[in-house]
Amino acid sequence: MRAAVLRGPGDVVIEDRPVPRAGPGEVVVRIRSVGVCGSDTHYYEHGRIGSYVVEQPLVLGHEASGVVTDVGEDVPADRVGQRVSIEPGVPDLTCDQCLAGRYNLCPNMRFFATPPIDGAFAEYVVVHEAFAHPVPDVIGDDAAALLEPLSVGIWACRKARISAGARVLVTGAGPIGLVALQCALAFGATDVSVSDVNPARLALARELGATAVVDAREGLGGLDRPPQVLLECSGYPPAIAEAIRALDRAGRAVLVGMGGDEIPLPLSAVQERELELTGTFRYANTWPTAIALVAAGRVDVDRLVTGTYRLDQAEEALTAGRRDPSSVKVVVRPRT
Ligand SMILES: NC(=O)c1ccc[n+]([C@@H]2O[C@H](COP(=O)([O-])OP(=O)(O)OC[C@H]3O[C@@H](n4cnc5c(N)ncnc54)[C@H](O)[C@@H]3O)[C@@H](O)[C@H]2O)c1
Ligand SMILES: [Zn+2]
Repeated sequence: MRAAVLRGPGDVVIEDRPVPRAGPGEVVVRIRSVGVCGSDTHYYEHGRIGSYVVEQPLVLGHEASGVVTDVGEDVPADRVGQRVSIEPGVPDLTCDQCLAGRYNLCPNMRFFATPPIDGAFAEYVVVHEAFAHPVPDVIGDDAAALLEPLSVGIWACRKARISAGARVLVTGAGPIGLVALQCALAFGATDVSVSDVNPARLALARELGATAVVDAREGLGGLDRPPQVLLECSGYPPAIAEAIRALDRAGRAVLVGMGGDEIPLPLSAVQERELELTGTFRYANTWPTAIALVAAGRVDVDRLVTGTYRLDQAEEALTAGRRDPSSVKVVVRPRT
């Protein structure tokens, strides 16, 4: 099979590799679509994210869908032919965090495209059978791949305990902010404002149901009423502090965006208004919800796709966002 392999910063080559074989409890998936995430682009440009360093050749890509082509020992043979969305982080399923139901916090997580685990910019991958989630035909291949970023939005809304009638502010209208917006609406929020500095992304937020959009360069002063929930999806430190300050009393801030490691905290607002703050780390138990929301038409992830590339164009796909400010989410389709 062919795989797009990152050898070092700015250096991706197509390699021939053996098709991986399924071990016990695993399935082989022929990849149909794989989304490019900001983290893939970051590894491509810098060869590292924080303490994760690309020290040996790495296959990028962790937002993937495809078709099961083979099964390992103990996996029902009738799974062959199933269309699946891949949940790209497989935990050990035995540690304290896993047993407490928080498998996203498993210290032994093996996550696609995080050194040294290969990802899905390839024609085939192998994954744990329970992490290859069957999808109905009403969900296309690109949308099935994008259930991964959608899961980040679902998890943020769960952590924020969004319920009917909530007033929400989403900061950052990238792919994550745009799924967080749609999830907040699906969870029953009636007032969802979205801020960004990119007019094209704000226009898309409006189209996807934002009740107000805010040009972040003009500040958050224009918000009608203080939001009860902040879904911070920009990762831009000054934006984070300002958005926390905009929250209503007893508000909740969910910090999804990853930016500078340390941010200024508006402590008096946190104390006087008894604000709650939490981070999020990926997601757990989100695929059934993601599948249901997309199948029911409550969330549109296809609308985020602004470009489609072949596997041999992986490098172009990885840099599309840098070249074109109107780019939102690009996908690679290895078999076309
Ligand atoms: N916590 C997690 O598990 C998790 C998972 C996936 C992604 N992330 C993080 O979520 C963030 C969003 O991901 P993405 O793929 O949408 O990234 P992105 O870079 O496409 O989106 C960030 C958006 O923030 C906007 N922005 C910049 N300055 C701003 C400001 N002052 N106010 C409001 N918006 C501003 C940018 O224009 C951009 O549209 C990233 O930091 C990413 O690392 C976290
Ligand atoms: Zn574990």
